[in-house]
Amino acid sequence: MTTQQGLKLVERDEEGVDTAFRADVLEGLSQSQKATPARWLYDDAGSQLFEDITQLPEYYPTRAETDILRTRGAEFADMIGSGRAVVEFGSGSSVKTPLLLSAIAPAAYVPLDISGDFLRAAADELAGKFPDLPVYPVEADFMRTVALPDEVADMPKLGFFPGSTIGNMVARTAVDLLRNMRETLGVGAKLLIGMDLIKDEDVLIAAYDDAAGVTAQFNINLLHRINRELDGDIPVDAFVHEARWHDEYARIEMHLVAQRDITFDVSGQSFTMTEGDTIHTENSHKFDRRTSNMLLLAAGWEPQERWLDSKERFSLMLAEAKPPRSAP
Ligand code: AVJ
Repeated sequence: MTTQQGLKLVERDEEGVDTAFRADVLEGLSQSQKATPARWLYDDAGSQLFEDITQLPEYYPTRAETDILRTRGAEFADMIGSGRAVVEFGSGSSVKTPLLLSAIAPAAYVPLDISGDFLRAAADELAGKFPDLPVYPVEADFMRTVALPDEVADMPKLGFFPGSTIGNMVARTAVDLLRNMRETLGVGAKLLIGMDLIKDEDVLIAAYDDAAGVTAQFNINLLHRINRELDGDIPVDAFVHEARWHDEYARIEMHLVAQRDITFDVSGQSFTMTEGDTIHTENSHKFDRRTSNMLLLAAGWEPQERWLDSKERFSLMLAEAKPPRSAP
């Protein structure tokens, strides 16, 4: 096993609070439509709740994507080839990542994550399963361009971004991220990226508003996190979880809906909401063949292959960072 202490790239204040979290929450709560970036849902409790979501009968994306990874290994080996440094954007899943690594025989594995604890846990587990594979974890905000460890500088790269996490981002942020990934990985790199598919609205709503209420807990957890880390007094019981389908933008939206008029403080700033007002906490965009191609092309990634699960609910796209060339 070879591991490397991750580089620390997350800025924290004297209380250990991520400074970007405070800035994002205060700015987002000051808008007329209150909104917070989805990534703040994933503190330790939120990440655990998301793990629970992936086990729910209504939440199909994880099973569907895992089905593709389980059954298409030979095609991945064919299209991607061996000897690449796999750079995973996010600390990796104990199920999906080994399926990919077993299929393509990479030369190194570089997980990138903003949460150092999750990162090290995932990296250790991976190193245990692949004792001969060098693992170089990097603690980083992967929304920015990342300096990869020197050890992988000369290896061809494969970016891996499963889970349809790209769907969390509005188009311009998604394009920024995909362009940064291209910058991080370099010309000649490939990218294997999960994108959830547009489908029947009832199926989508059920996946984001499950009968057991786990997704509701996941959403509400953000309020607990704000109260705890940002010295807030939000009356958590005044909010309910809601999942909406925005057809024009092809996305599921998660909201926290105020059930009565309320006033609360966060970090010494006061906020008010009227009954029915919402905090918009997450988008989950859904794609079809053309919109996924368009998104990749907009960021300089040329689509090469597209795989669906057997029930055609989810897609894995393979793209390549081709050098820019003249085109009409
Ligand atoms: C982790 C972004 C893939 O959008 O499906 C699941 C997050 N939110 N249920 C998704 C999520 C509510 C999830 N991603």
